[in-house]
Amino acid sequence: ASSPLRFDGKVALVTGAGNGLGKAYALEFAARGASVVVNDLGGNISGTGSGSRAADKVVDEIRAKGGKAVANYDSVELGEKLVQTALDNFGRIDIVVNNAGILRDKSFVRIKDEDWDIIQRVHLRGTFQVTRAAWPHMRKQGYGRIIMVTSAAGIYGNFGQANYSAAKLGIVGLANTLSIEGRKNNILVNTIAPIAGSRLTETVMTKEMVDALKPEYVSPIVVFLSHDSCQDTGGLFEVGAGFFAKLRWQRTEGVLLREANEILDAEKVRDNWDRITDFNKVTYPESIRDSMGKIMQLSGEMMEAEKAALDAAKTKDPV
Ligand code: NAI
Repeated sequence: ASSPLRFDGKVALVTGAGNGLGKAYALEFAARGASVVVNDLGGNISGTGSGSRAADKVVDEIRAKGGKAVANYDSVELGEKLVQTALDNFGRIDIVVNNAGILRDKSFVRIKDEDWDIIQRVHLRGTFQVTRAAWPHMRKQGYGRIIMVTSAAGIYGNFGQANYSAAKLGIVGLANTLSIEGRKNNILVNTIAPIAGSRLTETVMTKEMVDALKPEYVSPIVVFLSHDSCQDTGGLFEVGAGFFAKLRWQRTEGVLLREANEILDAEKVRDNWDRITDFNKVTYPESIRDSMGKIMQLSGEMMEAEKAALDAAKTKDPV
């Protein structure tokens, strides 16, 4: 509540900032003192066409308000070029918001190779290309903030969005590993699943919903996650209409079904299904160590037990 979150001297690259959510982020960063690269390919929602107008309009709006911004019109697939625009104009890159996106919604059997490929290329590969281009600069300066953009469709699945949900959850996987690799260089990586009225969603939302779900209601968490003062990394947040929440995994307590020297069969899994899937008692694994730890421990105990049984059999019945 005390000091405002300022970005003076910082350089932010927002991809797909010509419309919707990206535009709202770019305007907010600029209003808070950041120099902003407004990237936008300028195509339509299904990823065809291109043009400079979308990015230029946002740059004009920022400059008219006294802010600092330059446009870049390349596809996020050419990540190096986007980052080069930041370096050429502002000399550094501190913040990347991987926001650019398109849709090719179709039920699964109707997805053509090109509908699959373009969604993976723009969302997942684009996010990879832009982030990899910025990474060495962030490492060198010991500072970086990266915002990944996923979707409820990726987290939960959604009818008609197999291509999009695969790409969007792929981005969460990328963020999970980058948050681990970036930590020692103060590169923090967080992911948001936003919901907002935009040209992507206006066809499936009523006018009232579009009005209630303003992109400006999502920007505050993007700003905070991009600021020096935020030390969180590897988080996944659901955001919209001014609502903010964090997600995590949970795992049932689980059950060890194998006993020493036993060959397991599927019937035993069937007969214990209620225990395997019982969420009354849960754990919250946060890392590969939390995940594998219990399995490795149990398997170690099992090996000991099997070895002990073998030794006991040997002493009883020496050869
Ligand atoms: P939008 O269509 O208003 O904005 C996306 C912008 O990305 C457009 O200006 C477009 O020209 C640009 N773009 C597309 N392909 C590009 C490329 N290859 N290179 C550079 N720019 C490119 O869409 P919206 O709703 O603002 O979406 C922004 C992000 O939020 C997307 O990643 C979307 O998947 C995600 N999202 C949005 C939700 C919503 O409710 N609006 C829900 C969940 C996720």
